[in-house]
Amino acid sequence: MAALWSGRFDAEPDRATFEFGASFRFDRRLFEDDVTGSLAWVEALAAAGVLSEAERAALAGALTAIRDRGRQDPAFVDGADEDVHTFVERLVVEMVGEAGKRLHTGRSRNEQVSLDLRLYLRRRIPALRAALVRLAAALADQADRAGGALMPSYTHLRPAQPILVAHFFLAHAAALRRDDERLAAAAREADALPLGSGAVAGTRYAIDVEALAARLGFSTVVLNSLDASSDRDFVLSFLQAAAVTMVHLSRLAEDLIIFCSDEFHFFELSDALSTGSSMMPQKKNPDPLELVRGKAGRVTGHLVALLTTVKGLPSGYDKDLQEDKEGVFDSEDTLAGSLAAMTMVVAQLTLDRARAERAASGLLLATDVADYLVGRGMPFRRAHEVVGGLVRRLVAEGRSFDSLTLDEWRSASELFDEDIAAQITPAASVRGKRTPQSTAPEAVAAARAGLREWIAARRDEPGD
Ligand code: ARG
Repeated sequence: MAALWSGRFDAEPDRATFEFGASFRFDRRLFEDDVTGSLAWVEALAAAGVLSEAERAALAGALTAIRDRGRQDPAFVDGADEDVHTFVERLVVEMVGEAGKRLHTGRSRNEQVSLDLRLYLRRRIPALRAALVRLAAALADQADRAGGALMPSYTHLRPAQPILVAHFFLAHAAALRRDDERLAAAAREADALPLGSGAVAGTRYAIDVEALAARLGFSTVVLNSLDASSDRDFVLSFLQAAAVTMVHLSRLAEDLIIFCSDEFHFFELSDALSTGSSMMPQKKNPDPLELVRGKAGRVTGHLVALLTTVKGLPSGYDKDLQEDKEGVFDSEDTLAGSLAAMTMVVAQLTLDRARAERAASGLLLATDVADYLVGRGMPFRRAHEVVGGLVRRLVAEGRSFDSLTLDEWRSASELFDEDIAAQITPAASVRGKRTPQSTAPEAVAAARAGLREWIAARRDEPGD
């Protein structure tokens, strides 16, 4: 165990309590970013006249060697150190001696940890966004494959109105596009250099923070050192973006669990992605979907946990903030794993067109019947009542609209004509929709093209 602050203390730290406070076990994941930050800091210190050219070169050489070693051998990033910042500094001192002890001049771990997390998120969010685009592309493929196939839509999980199967897949892709924007916004929020803030009040060395920001690829510098030392808004934004994305994946999972069930069976889940039962030979379980649904809870939990952690903190860094990192890493891993699993499931889903279309027919055409009457001049509220009466009778007799004779139609309303049978079909129902966000075939074709354009544009976007 090696601490950076032992000078002030008479006693060796208590081992168990030191372990309790140490974060190296998990913040080693920030190793690359910590070295990146220190390399830039060395240049800033040299420019400020704190380091001689020889010292600058020695420190930069040591940091580069440490980074290369860590890249080659992840197990190298290990030890009894309190945290990743201590680890890197200890190695620098071991390698270059006295000059190494100048590295931390004018700098605090409070700003270092903020810097590392900002660099980390900026580096990692693009990979999550790329995974999200891959899922959107799998949904787009399914929408293309579905062509003109029909299925029911639901409200209250009761049959509502017919839709195109493609409309269902595009609905989930629409939510993912918002998630992508939220992740991009979280990356933008992380884009501010905290260095120069010192422990809390700033630094007394002439650090050119603008140049330092540019060197590290930040487009701006934080506004206030006191705020910066405990600002974790960018982390909260990331966790929120991850949690909302997980909620969307969970809802897609839930839809597919229901629609792949024997009772619905609009889709069939690939055997390769299903699991059996140790006891019941007939079972084919949608485990990956259930896991995605289940894992949404832990990411939501990380968001709530950090909100709770920061809500009572006095201004300035507080050690409570060390609790931010594990939630970030676990949210990232959970989201990446869930996106990959969902992409596999969606890509391998097969459509049971006959079952889906059968379910899209019947009494869920009632709104179209009412609209037919409206088209012949009846006020909608009155039409709703007339069709409601008709539905009541059909339900009692176990029948549907397609079994009605023209006389029966006319006994409900004189406005019904011979064309009624042709008008009241699931295909006519979707064709009749007029708005761009509707399930009308031309609207869905345009939406598919729009999604393809978005996917292409996202794939062409530079890294961050
Ligand atoms: N491990 C700490 C964290 O994760 C780094 C900052 C430590 N600062 C301090 N004053 N003890 O927040």
